[in-house]
Amino acid sequence: MVRVADNAVSDPGSSPILRVRGVRKAFDGREVLKGIDLDVMPGEAMVIMGGSGSGKSTLLRLMIGSLHADSGSIELFGQNICGLNDDAMNKVRLKFGILFQSGALFNSMTVAENVALPLQEHTRLSQEVIDIQVKIKLEQVQLREAADLYPAQISGGMKKRAGLARALTLDPKLLFCDEPSAGLDPVTSAQIDRLLLDLTKKIGIATVVVTHEMDSAFTIADRMAMLDKGRMLAVEPKAWFDRVRGVPDADSAQLSEDERLIRQFLRGSAEGPLSERQSESDWEQDILGVRPGVPGMPSIEPSRIVPRTEGESVLQRLRRILRA
Ligand SMILES: Nc1ncnc2c1ncn2[C@@H]1O[C@H](COP(=O)(O)OP(=O)(O)OP(=O)(O)O)[C@@H](O)[C@H]1O
Ligand SMILES: [Mg+2]
Repeated sequence: MVRVADNAVSDPGSSPILRVRGVRKAFDGREVLKGIDLDVMPGEAMVIMGGSGSGKSTLLRLMIGSLHADSGSIELFGQNICGLNDDAMNKVRLKFGILFQSGALFNSMTVAENVALPLQEHTRLSQEVIDIQVKIKLEQVQLREAADLYPAQISGGMKKRAGLARALTLDPKLLFCDEPSAGLDPVTSAQIDRLLLDLTKKIGIATVVVTHEMDSAFTIADRMAMLDKGRMLAVEPKAWFDRVRGVPDADSAQLSEDERLIRQFLRGSAEGPLSERQSESDWEQDILGVRPGVPGMPSIEPSRIVPRTEGESVLQRLRRILRA
């Protein structure tokens, strides 16, 4: 078994599209990210895994600039986003896409209008050109027949595909996805994973995917990152995680403590270091996803539920959602 020596990638020839160094974040004096390092290379699929409360969503929100780190640096496309003002951050946001949990579509707009929105807001293209672009994007996610339907008229899987088409509208080089297959049946979820994989590999987009779902993680990932209680346990190629998962019980004593944690998580086993730990002080958070001191704290923040404020245009609301 190879020990995790360094989270940085070894290819010195190309520079990361996303580079996280020494990132720390505390809420109410409690540190939930404790010095995170992570590189994502152009075109690669990085899957971030970890138990409930391990800090996945917090890390994602820091990486898309909707939260600020207490210390450390986050570089997107070579630019440190820590400390950027809203205007500068909005410019960086044009270069990456985000696929939210439920697609985050606007219910009052058709699928085609939802996909057209970023082009209308951020380009000077004519309506004819926008219409063609939208058709191409919808074709790529096999959703052309649903162009004139409203989100309430389509299934969960179709909403995700529409969300994916919208996230790809401005041809980003980097796509962040939050639990892409959450809430879908296994077949639809496998189809979304496959589509995500096909599209991003075909176009050469790097992806950063947060997911609980092991099947999904092992389908999508080139490399995986495992978070535990705000600490990065390992950032390794998928094959490394596959090997850790496959270590038989008889040999598991040879693994390090971190590797045994990873093995138990990947296997979803009831027994192992995770369960031993859960009998200690933080069992509530690990087992039930209940965050001590934060009653009813939602685990992820689906931006769709951001209520519309009076007098606010759809575009203003979208900007606010992306910042939320
Ligand atoms: N806005 C906030 N205010 C206070 N504490 C927060 C806030 N956001 C996250 N936390 C805390 O940070 C820790 C990490 O939360 P986070 O949502 O990042 O975990 P997660 O790995 O995404 O979990 P899940 O798998 O349940 O979505 C938790 O203990 C949580 O209570
Ligand atoms: Mg989360």
